[in-house]
Amino acid sequence: MNHPLSPSKLQFDSDGKLHHFLTIEGIKRQTLTEILDLADSFLGTEGKAVKKLPLLRGKTVVNLFFENSTRTLTTFELAAQRLSADVLKINIATSATAKGESLLDMLHNLEAMQCDMFVIRHAQSGAAQFIAHHVAPHISVINAGDGRHAHPTQAMLDMLTIRRHKPEFGALKVAIVGDVLHSRVARSQIHALTTLGAAEVRVIGPKTLIPPSMQQLGVHIFHDMAKGLDGVDVVIMLRLQRERMAGALLPSEKEYFSLYGLTDEKLAMAKPDAIVMHPGPINRGVEIASSVADGPQSVILEQVSNGIALRMAVMSMVLGRSPQTQAAEDIR
Ligand code: CP
Repeated sequence: MNHPLSPSKLQFDSDGKLHHFLTIEGIKRQTLTEILDLADSFLGTEGKAVKKLPLLRGKTVVNLFFENSTRTLTTFELAAQRLSADVLKINIATSATAKGESLLDMLHNLEAMQCDMFVIRHAQSGAAQFIAHHVAPHISVINAGDGRHAHPTQAMLDMLTIRRHKPEFGALKVAIVGDVLHSRVARSQIHALTTLGAAEVRVIGPKTLIPPSMQQLGVHIFHDMAKGLDGVDVVIMLRLQRERMAGALLPSEKEYFSLYGLTDEKLAMAKPDAIVMHPGPINRGVEIASSVADGPQSVILEQVSNGIALRMAVMSMVLGRSPQTQAAEDIR
């Protein structure tokens, strides 16, 4: 599903505005900060009795999830509803793709129903890019996770969560621990953290799960938890992505947990006020102990809540519907 125009270029329109959200790569720090600021402003709507804003009134958002999801699908749906959009979820298993209809024919039929946005999750890296290249010009595509490639809204909700606890990225040491090899989240987090100016990004894990090429992304590689966690402000744990592992990359889950699972003892090697994050789904006793996942330093469920505001921000930005544009329309 490769296309000559890279996703980082394809996502901007001819005026340089973000039209699709496919990858963090190629997006400037100022734009990432604008997304975080807008998401922060939406967090205020959560506590209100009426949670809805009219920014996407009259717009139709279609969620196309070809791969399983709990958090991403649900928070995209809630985000679209809170912006007053009409939201459709296509059940891929019962759709006409099961009768041989091609992906592009399916998309062109949805276009004929005057949809405005496709939110895509797909097991194939490059799927969202492929779709963005083929849709009608007025339609925005948001990548909700493609293969091992990228999960940009997850990375941005993680940045929002970090910033609410540790406002200065330039002062932060962040460790990403576990199955980096198969993780689209880790790649997007690394691009976001380096663009936002994090002081140091470390990846920690066994040699089989940390490709040496990661160094080209500007991270420091550690294979030892004690050294890698020493003095970090943020610990991001990753799930072992068994569904993407081709061969036997690990001895056993028990041994993996003893070496790389985050326990209270290992967490004590980070700074005392370090926060613990995980994009989910978590596998207790494999990469993280329950006492840490549910402990006082964990912000894992806060990440999920922040996902709604962050996705509201991205959806309104790619459709050019900020609170400022709405206010100007209200005056007219
Ligand atoms: N973090 C994440 O993408 O979770 P889901 O697979 O449940 O959407």
